[in-house]
Amino acid sequence: MSSNYLKRLFLDFMQMKEFAEHPLIMKSAKGVWYEDVAGKKYLDGLSGIFVVSAGHGNRRIIDAMKKQLDEITFAPPLHSTNLRALELAELLSKITPGDLHTVKLSSGGSEATETAMKLARQYHRQTGNPHKYKIISLYDGFHGTTMGALGASGTTKRRTAFEPFGSGYVHVFPPTCYRCPYGLTYPDCHILCARIVEDVIKKEGPSTVSALIVEPISNTGGIITPPDEYFKILREICDKYNVILIFDEIITGFGRTGEMFAAQTFKTTPDIICMGKGMASGYSPIGGIIFSDKIADAFYGRNEDQVQFNDGHTYAGNPLSCAAAIATINVIIDERLQYKARDRGLRIVEKLKELEYLGIIGDVRGKGLLIGVEFVKDKVTKAQFDERINFGIRVGKNALQKGLIIRFDPNWCAFAPPLIIENEEVDQMMQIFHESLKEEALAAA
Ligand SMILES: Cc1ncc(COP(=O)(O)O)c(C=O)c1O
Repeated sequence: MSSNYLKRLFLDFMQMKEFAEHPLIMKSAKGVWYEDVAGKKYLDGLSGIFVVSAGHGNRRIIDAMKKQLDEITFAPPLHSTNLRALELAELLSKITPGDLHTVKLSSGGSEATETAMKLARQYHRQTGNPHKYKIISLYDGFHGTTMGALGASGTTKRRTAFEPFGSGYVHVFPPTCYRCPYGLTYPDCHILCARIVEDVIKKEGPSTVSALIVEPISNTGGIITPPDEYFKILREICDKYNVILIFDEIITGFGRTGEMFAAQTFKTTPDIICMGKGMASGYSPIGGIIFSDKIADAFYGRNEDQVQFNDGHTYAGNPLSCAAAIATINVIIDERLQYKARDRGLRIVEKLKELEYLGIIGDVRGKGLLIGVEFVKDKVTKAQFDERINFGIRVGKNALQKGLIIRFDPNWCAFAPPLIIENEEVDQMMQIFHESLKEEALAAA
């Protein structure tokens, strides 16, 4: 393998000089295991990157795609659709809650969140509220790397190089209970982080606010998991001010949080759900949105110029991707993987509790197979490790050396293995994590 090759391929959010010196090149994968070009095995504790929900090398999905390859692999979304796209739309409307029945497909997550925000704006425009354009979202949230999605994202590090964005993005603090931005404690806080959204809408002017976009559980913020009441309050506020509630379920969808969608886990139906990542388990790129009858109805009519949704992507509804998504969803349904995710997630939490003796586990949070652990130097004061140590990153890199892939950040790590993971594999994952954490805790002491 030529090293020039490594220099000439930019990876995501990656310092390429460092990577070129220590590259990780995957060759094959099966179940919850990767193998690199040197023959080293890695336990996939992150489903690739929250994607491979049904595991690697799933025969049912591969066979469905092979069959589709022989039938049709492209149908232009500008003037036609195809049988798989229709089948997928129907299936999605069956597994999502409430009156979410209408689907717009795309090729990935950023396209989905962009589409959702555009749909909200155009919906208001053609229902008599042309000035409703602002998008409210959360600090530390992430909705993708295209400019609109990044504008709504609240991850400072990923945003600053590309500012300024278009106008109309307003951010509020997320439900970070462990480190409440308002210095309050649950439940005495009365969920101020949700209620304050009403004040923000009033101050911005309700006639200018189009949508509120939130991840049910935020990855980039550190698996931020809101209290049960949070989304119910947001739902009420959005209804009161005619603001479209968008759930970005690109990570939390398709069984990840213990139900098919986090909307079901948190018992709140938004107006739009954005999907991607686990939708086709990584066998083919796909994303999309599903939205309410109320919104869909505003786009039916005779005058094309006024009512057609002015959005499109060349690969939307690609038959091969749709076939992969249908097969993935059927695997999740038939093997009851969302419930398996619940069980396995509880096992991870139990194993993390056993690591309390190290004295550096500040908080464990998440739902289903989306579990995060935050590290502290001092459990009483919640003081974090010195920034220069990059403690969580050291833990993650140590685990990688030992053959485990997890999500890592300076102050936390996260586990999100494929939903098919068995108990023994969870134990193996947690054993490697334990060893890595212990070594780094000793080194940092
Ligand atoms: C919550 C969330 N939304 C949107 C996106 C963007 O998805 P994609 O990378 O497929 O464009 C991501 C990607 O990590 C994400 O985590």
